[in-house]
Amino acid sequence: MQYLFPKDFWWGSASSAPQTEGESLGAGKSPNVWDHWFELQPERFFQGVGPENTSTFYHHWREDIALLKQTGHNSFRTSLSWARLIPDGQGPCNPQAVAFYNQVIDELLAQGITPFINLFHFDMPMAMQAQGGFENRRVVEAYADYAALCFELFGDRVKHWFTFNEPIVPVEGGYLYDFHYPNVVDFKRAATVAYHTMLAHAMAVQRFRQSDCDGDIGIILNLTPSYPRSQNPADVAAANHADLLFNRSFLDPALRGTYPDELVALLGQYDQLPTCLPGDRQLLASGIVDLLGINYYQPRRVQCRANQVNPAAPFMPEWLFDHYQMPGRKMNPWRGWEIYERGIYDILTNLRENYNNPRCYISENGMGVEDELRFLQDGRIEDNYRIDFVREHLVWVHRALAQGSRCLGYHMWTFIDNWSWSNAYKNRYGLVQLDLATQQRTVKKSGLWLADVARQHGFTTEDK
Ligand code: BG6
Repeated sequence: MQYLFPKDFWWGSASSAPQTEGESLGAGKSPNVWDHWFELQPERFFQGVGPENTSTFYHHWREDIALLKQTGHNSFRTSLSWARLIPDGQGPCNPQAVAFYNQVIDELLAQGITPFINLFHFDMPMAMQAQGGFENRRVVEAYADYAALCFELFGDRVKHWFTFNEPIVPVEGGYLYDFHYPNVVDFKRAATVAYHTMLAHAMAVQRFRQSDCDGDIGIILNLTPSYPRSQNPADVAAANHADLLFNRSFLDPALRGTYPDELVALLGQYDQLPTCLPGDRQLLASGIVDLLGINYYQPRRVQCRANQVNPAAPFMPEWLFDHYQMPGRKMNPWRGWEIYERGIYDILTNLRENYNNPRCYISENGMGVEDELRFLQDGRIEDNYRIDFVREHLVWVHRALAQGSRCLGYHMWTFIDNWSWSNAYKNRYGLVQLDLATQQRTVKKSGLWLADVARQHGFTTEDK
């Protein structure tokens, strides 16, 4: 069967500044939360590899952009580093950073690759975190100033902007589950950071619309469909709670400019609501995006709680549901994540039916593999499993498109094997293999496959 996509469909991949640039403490950049945490606790990073050991895009950007071209990209998303552009988080900007980002954007355009630019990928400048990060509204304002500066500096050429990548991740990592700095476990503080992040988002959207820039302003959300174990009302209610907490907490303000009443009531019931100030409601309402990026890796399966909660323990999302491991689920054994291709279709269908069918694209989807060198043959990673993974997800994207979804493209995570937070280089996702010792880049089989797909605007499968 032939799966053809629109001629102007975006094909490409995503990456981020802190995971690729390197020069994490050089070229005028100041430390962000990752540099700081690594200095404090290097043992919490896989094999002790920290944020200075990335794929050195800061020095290899021209070569890497040539590889983007070779692997069929017509578009590419990366982020700007706030701590590189404005070392103190607010105040004067770093001319070396401006020159660097100008070169990157110009080279992308020269190669016919549309730059998609994200402003924040988990990388709060330490100078801002020292003031409380997004717990502090002054940091929210500093972020909006940073966003406005980016629009002013690069908005003549960049036409696709994103305020945040997966804004829920620093919230759950930093304030609930202890996998990001500042390693706090406190739901109410988490809710405050989440709320203020969306205020920061809305302020940046306002600043974009007040600027001379044309193009799209969006946000990138990791949408994880919540599937109940059964249709028993208790399981369905558990799945709804997970959906409210992990999806709609960001999706509703981004697409409707307001929070679901049900979520507000739920947090109110457990006394976990953040403080709202006069004017917040109007501000949030102005943050409705032009374009939604969707990151999808795996579903969330839940069931109703089996046991009573300990009332003396800190309130956690898991007070409202238990995780459910569906017997017989398909797994990526090298990452330990379920593979459920249909999930991508369910997300697009939900957006079409319940959110007025927004303009959107798949901004991340991909397959992490630990110890990927086991698949090296004659000098190349033969990642047929990744090709299958992508093709099978694209089949579902294609079906959603046929039903009227306004999905405009598909980007993989990621272009080149990169450093991934406390997992460092444990899970490899790239279309291009990185030899850490030599920094040599070698295109994987999937990179060549993607180039073919982009060139042919789709692919053919053997089934009828
Ligand atoms: C995505 C993030 O959710 O997952 C990336 O946007 C991250 O920044 C990627 O690198 C892979 O994560 P992991 O934990 O499998 O290495």
